[in-house]
Amino acid sequence: MPVPRLLPLLAMATLLALMLAAAMLAAGHGAPALAAHIGFALGVMPLILAAMSYFVPVLTRGAAPGAAAWWPPLLALGGGSLLLWALATDYSSVVISLAALLALGAALGLALWAMHRARRMVGRRHPGMDWYLAALGMLLLALCAVLAMPWFPEQRAQLRLFHLHANLLGFVGLTALGTLQVLLPTCIGQADPDAAERLRRDLKWAVAGSLLLAFGAASPRPVGLAIASAGCLLYLTVVLRMLSAWIARFRGALLALHGAATSLFAAALGLCGLLLLGLAHGLALLSGRAAVAGFVVAFLLPLVSGAAAQLLPIWLRPGVQGPWHAKLRRRLCRWSGARGAVLVLAGLVLALA
Ligand code: HEM
Repeated sequence: MPVPRLLPLLAMATLLALMLAAAMLAAGHGAPALAAHIGFALGVMPLILAAMSYFVPVLTRGAAPGAAAWWPPLLALGGGSLLLWALATDYSSVVISLAALLALGAALGLALWAMHRARRMVGRRHPGMDWYLAALGMLLLALCAVLAMPWFPEQRAQLRLFHLHANLLGFVGLTALGTLQVLLPTCIGQADPDAAERLRRDLKWAVAGSLLLAFGAASPRPVGLAIASAGCLLYLTVVLRMLSAWIARFRGALLALHGAATSLFAAALGLCGLLLLGLAHGLALLSGRAAVAGFVVAFLLPLVSGAAAQLLPIWLRPGVQGPWHAKLRRRLCRWSGARGAVLVLAGLVLALA
């Protein structure tokens, strides 16, 4: 089964996993780490690695990936399943480390393959590739923090904070921002000639922002708080720059009731809202756990559902796009914009709880 066939399955499974995680986190049902990883380690991580395996050949103008492209997402899925088993049973640090090693192997394998493809390609590579490599780098750092936990038990709380911020804003956030700038104009059916330049210019600020945020969150106050807040503002600038470029170029098309683009636009607005609430959470005005639930509902659900509505027809029947694709996309996108807006509002309210 080529990667496009694996992607629809993973996209559907991820949406279900995220809905389950959101319900458990919002209801305070079950251990928060277990609920969070149902969405993140079982859903989002394998889906992102599979999506990268699909997009890397597009970005490097190379041949479609073969069966080997299955390995990173499947290895990550194995790591995620093992982790859930440990979190649901005895919290064994050996099993958790094994899970982290599997995910680490998946991320490293994919990064090396992407770099190999980039080296072999003719011409200048698309800057989206660099966002993917940076995102994989953040995942590797986040997993190293998990591997360090049994060796530095006194620093476990700080390592956990580093792990979760590096994953949510580094791995997931950088992947999303790198993809959205290409995907949203495609959904609208118009070009964004400035996207490549914006991606090239802003990567360093987004990476610096997520690193400062993760290190600051894991460092003692008040210095840690100042570093994390600076990272948050840097990161926010990148998201706001993308949003203002979209508003100037696409205007009303961003607000269509039935458009996948509206869902993606809503996800980006949700991310902005969460970054602002993150500042309040840093000042101990809001709970961190509620912010994780808000991240799932206000950012990941509109993001994944909007992207899936646009991409599922291509993934289900790759090749020449015809009336079948257009009809299915119209059905999948029905109320997609309205759904995205409701999710963002609900997620921000949850994060405030
Ligand atoms: C196989 C890969 C992964 C491993 C082994 C792993 C391991 C861990 C461990 C050991 C903790 C601390 C749990 C506790 O203190 O009770 C944790 C917390 C957390 N991780 Fe992961 N993780 C993985 C992947 C991810 C991914 C991909 C994400 C997000 C995209 C993520 C987000 C989080 C969050 C949000 C928390 C805090 C949960 C809470 O206590 O509220 N993790 N992880």
